[in-house]
Amino acid sequence: MASSFGAAQVLVASNRGPVSYAVADDGSLRSRRGGGGLVSGLSAIGPESGALWVCSALSDGDREAVRRGVGEDGVRMLDVPADVHADAYNGIANSVLWFVHHMLYQTPLEPVFDAEFRRQWASYETYNRAFAEALAEEAAEGAAVLVQDYHLTLVPGMLRELRPDLRIGHFSHTPWAPPEYFAMLPDDIARQVLRGMLGADRLGFLTRRWADAFTACCERFAGGLGDTRVGVHGLGADADFLRARSHEADVDERMAALKEEIGEGRRTIVRVDRTELSKNIVRGLLAYRQLLDDRPEWRERVVHVAFAYPSRQDLAVYRDYTAEVQRLAEEINEQYGTPGWRPVVLHVKDDFARSLAAYRLADVALVNPIRDGMNLVAKEVPVVSDTGCALVLSREAGAHEELGEDAITVNPYDVVQTAEALHEALSMRPEDRTERSKRLVAAATALPPARWFLDQLEALRG
Ligand code: F6P
Repeated sequence: MASSFGAAQVLVASNRGPVSYAVADDGSLRSRRGGGGLVSGLSAIGPESGALWVCSALSDGDREAVRRGVGEDGVRMLDVPADVHADAYNGIANSVLWFVHHMLYQTPLEPVFDAEFRRQWASYETYNRAFAEALAEEAAEGAAVLVQDYHLTLVPGMLRELRPDLRIGHFSHTPWAPPEYFAMLPDDIARQVLRGMLGADRLGFLTRRWADAFTACCERFAGGLGDTRVGVHGLGADADFLRARSHEADVDERMAALKEEIGEGRRTIVRVDRTELSKNIVRGLLAYRQLLDDRPEWRERVVHVAFAYPSRQDLAVYRDYTAEVQRLAEEINEQYGTPGWRPVVLHVKDDFARSLAAYRLADVALVNPIRDGMNLVAKEVPVVSDTGCALVLSREAGAHEELGEDAITVNPYDVVQTAEALHEALSMRPEDRTERSKRLVAAATALPPARWFLDQLEALRG
């Protein structure tokens, strides 16, 4: 049954939306627009297409905006109660589903699926239902709905019941766990997640590996895929945007400041991450320390530029991890630093212009996640770097499927091997580096965000 006021032909649903609000000191609301692949993807279909983005209010400012009826055209923010959202987002999505798909548990002690977990799971269901109901209300007859990520795994199934006429897609921006690891979830929850996803007509993943893992989980726990189709869409870097943005004045300013911090004539090993437990920043620092031990010829001649931006700071384990990154960076600086050389330049305050400045200055990009859906940094640095960079890349990053041949591949747990890979990258002959870098750029930009989005839409409608 289609809602009488449903008019949207294309709908996107995600926890975090394209805009956020904060209450200023004078009580007024300030809005901020975010970037990212989905934002540029959606803009590709044009404002006249009747597209709607359904997202959750995340902050007090967002909730206030919903209550005051403030909003942007094409965006509907759901005022999910703060405690329900906290259970669903922090408790289930980030502390359970993220951990399962990235295989992050320290299994002797965790996970423990107790009564508290069941209580939080009920909130996750409530939160997913709020999305399903809003989408059911807003969608025009036969509209296409593109649901995003592990926050919303139950939405396709719930929406299918409410609106069988819709074309429903779901895209996972994370890895998917292999069946042996997914089996850690309580049996009924594992089935509920898979059946929720299988409510979609089509499921998208970033790599073949994650799509195959999902299929294997369905075969083992849900009797197979049924009628649901599975596709792979490897999101690429937005080269036009990045090249233009990285030559604006604020990036030039940041470059000048960074050069001061690095010092004249030194090589750079650059990493830029949101400080997520899966990014492996600590082992990256350990590998850098190993490099300075094993190859003393690099002392004073190289700087590790590491930007570790805060993420999910409501979770103690994330805060502790950030503190460990800072502690280790300081320890390395104390141990090896000299009056004119700071071996690690660490910044933890998010600054996009400074990230682009670091990309431009990169001789080596270090991307060594434990496990990662794609990792766009691996694709962005080669595109932006002024002189072409060498890429040290974890074999567990989704991007490795496309970039592996021209990167130096590492096992993310092996810091001795990673140190050797850093040495190899720093020592790469310039012609070799230029050639590899060109091929990295070609692979990294093969599927720009707009095409990535439109391909999914076409496949869903086709
Ligand atoms: O990078 C993977 C991802 O799941 C993205 O799809 C999503 O935008 C993000 O992580 C969620 O992060 P946050 O918890 O900051 O909203």
